[in-house]
Parts: sequence; structure tokens; C-alpha cells
Amino acid sequence: MHALSTTDPKSTLSARVQEAIEVAFGAEYAGTDAVIRPSQFADYQANAALPLAKRLGRKPREVAADIVAALQVDDLCAGLEISGPGFINLTLRDEAIADRSNAQSADPRLGLPVLTAQRIVVDYSAPNVAKEMHVGHLRTTVVGDALARTLEHLGHQVIRQNHIGDWGTPFGMLLEHLLDVGEHGDDAGLLRSDPNSFYQSARNKFEGSTEFAGRARARVVALQAGEPNTLRLWQELIDLSKTYFNQIYTALDVTLTDDDLMGESRYNESLSALCDELEQKGLAVVSEGALCVFLEGFTGREGKPVPLIIRKSDGGYGYGTTDLATIRYRARQLHADRILYVIGAPQHLHLQMVFATARLAGWLPEDVHPVHVQIGNVLGQDGKILKTRSGAPIRLGVLLEEAVDRAAAVVEKIRPDLDDRTRADIARQVGIGAVKYADLSLAHDTEYTFDFDRMLALTGNTGPYLQYASARIRSILRKATDTSDQDAFPGTIEVGQPAERRLALELLGFGGVVAEVGDTLEPHRLCAYLFSLAQAFTGFYDACPVLKAPDPAVRSSRLALCDLTLRVLVVGLGLLGVSAPEQM
Ligand code: ARG
Repeated sequence: MHALSTTDPKSTLSARVQEAIEVAFGAEYAGTDAVIRPSQFADYQANAALPLAKRLGRKPREVAADIVAALQVDDLCAGLEISGPGFINLTLRDEAIADRSNAQSADPRLGLPVLTAQRIVVDYSAPNVAKEMHVGHLRTTVVGDALARTLEHLGHQVIRQNHIGDWGTPFGMLLEHLLDVGEHGDDAGLLRSDPNSFYQSARNKFEGSTEFAGRARARVVALQAGEPNTLRLWQELIDLSKTYFNQIYTALDVTLTDDDLMGESRYNESLSALCDELEQKGLAVVSEGALCVFLEGFTGREGKPVPLIIRKSDGGYGYGTTDLATIRYRARQLHADRILYVIGAPQHLHLQMVFATARLAGWLPEDVHPVHVQIGNVLGQDGKILKTRSGAPIRLGVLLEEAVDRAAAVVEKIRPDLDDRTRADIARQVGIGAVKYADLSLAHDTEYTFDFDRMLALTGNTGPYLQYASARIRSILRKATDTSDQDAFPGTIEVGQPAERRLALELLGFGGVVAEVGDTLEPHRLCAYLFSLAQAFTGFYDACPVLKAPDPAVRSSRLALCDLTLRVLVVGLGLLGVSAPEQM
């Protein structure tokens, strides 16, 4: 399903090697993987001969020679060579690189492939009403948003779904507490600023007073019965929480809006019929009083089958039921081709059971693909789930403020010349960018240790390093416009020097990498790419004078390379949801 980038030479070379294989060995070998990798011995290396030799029962080097004999790449390559056990080394012509670079520069999509558009549901963030968001929510929010932005940019139709926790038994005590403190009082305001303390007060009352606990239980019943005044109060509670979520989303520069809210409560009404249907279809059975789905292949310790509980013995519903109603809605009503669940890794088994049950029940057609994008835990320096010193969960708002404060100290050190307002603006972009980039630069399913010093470092694969790289190019381009007539800039790209060549090739890889993120749902690949691009730029800038280039054509070609690098960096960071400050 991999789409071809129009400018990425890897795509073209891979297609040409495939053609050569077909010509040399016949159509039945057409599907052989022609993996093209950057190489230290040439620009690229193809390793198609090795897997093919196995199938053909021949020597890899001979197979490679047959491929080379049939390979038509004169327009692209200056050199072809068989190396090692049967690799094919490919060296591009300078003009071929330059032609593609100019095409990329002229392309508003910067070489992104054109794909068959899909409808893709992205379920991410999913905080709980009247609860503080924690670093786990931070990571699903940041990763989910990067995926949503990237898929949208690739041309897919993305439907964001924020599956907030807005229903369940705790709402009895929360609503009673809200009534007690008054909807418009200061304590209700805590829901907007410090939801955990509101939650904790409700909890304390629930545990300390049988009278309150009784009222809370009656309130749950009224809520489930849809009693109008209770529903109105519930809506008030949701609205206060929404304000809190939106503050965090704004601070984080995340694209979620109220229109994307689709919480657990929205599926309530369908749960009972859903259970009946599963029972009628013979998929759910009563076991120890609870209605359960037992699936083949899902077993726990000692081979005991693990149930997906869809109705508890007290008649209540759990996540399993809501998640089934949700996936059915996404397939049937939202007509999704792919459904991404950007959710903690520990939920993997649960989600696999939900997916399998939905398939068996006929709610999830074969051509709809649910994917669990597993989010690894965020740990503190002690190797345990990140907590405050007192053991309380970290408040996300406070964490983000600290990031911005620390970034302000960095900015003050590197740019004492700027005024306070400008510095504060940069600090906000750097602080937030650093936190987000740290979440994105590692594989999303790995655990990682939250470490301000590392994420704010100006060197290495960090947000601030890439922001700094882009700001530096902006400054070069500003100087160029100050000192030259506009006509000369940006000019036609030519590649002569090895460092120009390396930078141009790196730039050409952009479309392929973004497409790969769209397929694999791994934003860290884009991070690694941008980091490598910034390094290639540094190598270029060290080796090739730009503003003081030997002649005007070279100067304007190098300025065009600077300009293209900047655009790729800014768009790439944008896909990750990281902003690129004008100066740094
Ligand atoms: N609200 C849950 C929590 O905060 C996460 C729900 C994840 N599920 C989902 N379908 N998005 O732990």
C-alpha cells in the first residue's frame, strides 16, 4: 500500500529495480521487494538480489548482474556497481538530484505522494471529567494529534474522536458535591483549574458521610433515568471540565475542539440492546452472574479463558460494552476505513478482544481496520510512573508551566538582546515544543523517563535543536534579502559539492518519510528524519559558504537549498504539532 513520492529517488529506483526483475526473471517475480537504502558506499543500495537468489536457487552476485543488465536508470544514475554478496550500489547524477530538488521546491506539497484518501478515525486524548489530566493523557494527546495532522496533510479525511470519561457511578458523588457547593461558587470553579481537588472533596464526603453516600447513590439512579434536573447539572459539570480540557489543549497547541468530543455517555442508550444482540447471536453467555464474551485464543494463566465482560452481575456496563458500541458507531455511522486507538499499551488485550468481538458480531466489516497505537508509560527519575514528590499525580498544567519557565531561562541565556515579550513568546514555543517533541521522538510504545534537562537541550534529537536550526536558517535568509536584489533569490538549485548533494538527497526523502508515518503510524520516524536533515544542513553550512558564495549563481542555488530546508523543517515540525519560532 506504500505510495510513491514523486521526488524521492528511493521510490523511483525501487520501481525501476522491480521492472528490471520482471524483465530478467519474468512476471512471477514481479512482487520481489526492492528495498532501496541510503548507503555509505554510494547514494543508495538495493538488496533485491539476495532474497531473489534464494527463490531462484542461484548465486546472489549472478542474480544481481542479471538485474543490472536489465536495469534502466541512465537518466538517474551515474554509476552502478555490484558489491559484497550481491548488493547493487546506485550513484545518482548530480543533474538528476538537482532536477528533483527544483521540482520539490516548486511543489506546494514538497514532494508528498498523492494517495488514495481514506476516512480515518483517530481516538486520542480521552481525559476524564472532573479529573486532572496526567502525563499519560499528555502522551496520547500529543501522539494522536501528530498522527491526525500528518494523515490529514497526506490527504486523508481524519475524524477526531475525543472519548472523554463522562459517565459512570462516580458521577453520583460529583453531582451531589456540585449541588452542595453551588454551581457558580468558587469550589465549582476548581473544576476548571484544579479538578483533582474537587474530585477529592467529593470522595472524602462520600467516604465520611453515609447521608452523602446515600444521596450520591440516588443521584446515579436519577442520572441513569435521565431525570431532567440531574441531566442539566451533569451537563454543567461537563461544561466546567471542558473549559479545563480546552485550556490544556490551547497551551499544548493541540487541534482538538468541542466538536471532537464524543464521550462514553454518548453510547449509553445503545448498550442494553447491544448486549441482547450479542446474546441472541450466541456470542455472549452468562457466567457467574455476568454477561461475558469468551473468545478463542484469549486465555490467561493456566490457559483459562479471559472473558470480555459486557454486563456486570449488578446489571451495570463497563468499558467493554461502551467500546463495542463505539467501534460499531465508527464503522457504521462514521464509515471509517481505519480506526486508530491511541491508548495506553496496558489496554492492548482489552482492545484486541473488542476488535475480535465486533468482527464476530458483524459490526466491523473485513475492510475496516482497527489499530491500537500503543502508548508506553511515562516514568519519573525513579523508574516508576511519574508522580510528584508527595506521591500525588503530576498536574499537567503545572508541568507545562514549568517547561515554559525552564525554556525561558534557556532563551534568556542565548538571547539576552531580545525584549521580554519576544523572549516570553519564544520560551512558550520552546518549552511546549520540547515536551511534545520528547513524547514524539521515541517509539510511541516504549516507556520513557520524563527529563526536563534532556528535552530542553539545544543539542541532540530535541525540539529546541530543530527549532534552533530553523530559526538559524530564517536568519540567513533575512540577511540575504537585506543584502541582495530580490531577483537572485531563491534561485535554481544546482548540486556540486558533496555537502550540497547530501543535503539535497536528505530533502528529497521528505515525502517518503511522511508517507511512511501515515502507514506505520510512527511519528518518531519523522523526528529522526528531521534531526538527520538538520545535521545535513549543518554539514552543508559548515562546508559551503552561502552569503559569501563564490559567484551569484552558486549563492542563489545555496539560498534556494536553505529556503527548501527551512520549508521542510517548518512543515515537518508542523505535522508533529511543534511550532518553529521566527528567531531564537
Ligand atoms: N478515559 C480513560 C482514561 O483516562 C481512557 C479511555 C481510553 N479509551 C478510549 N476509547 N479512548 O484512562
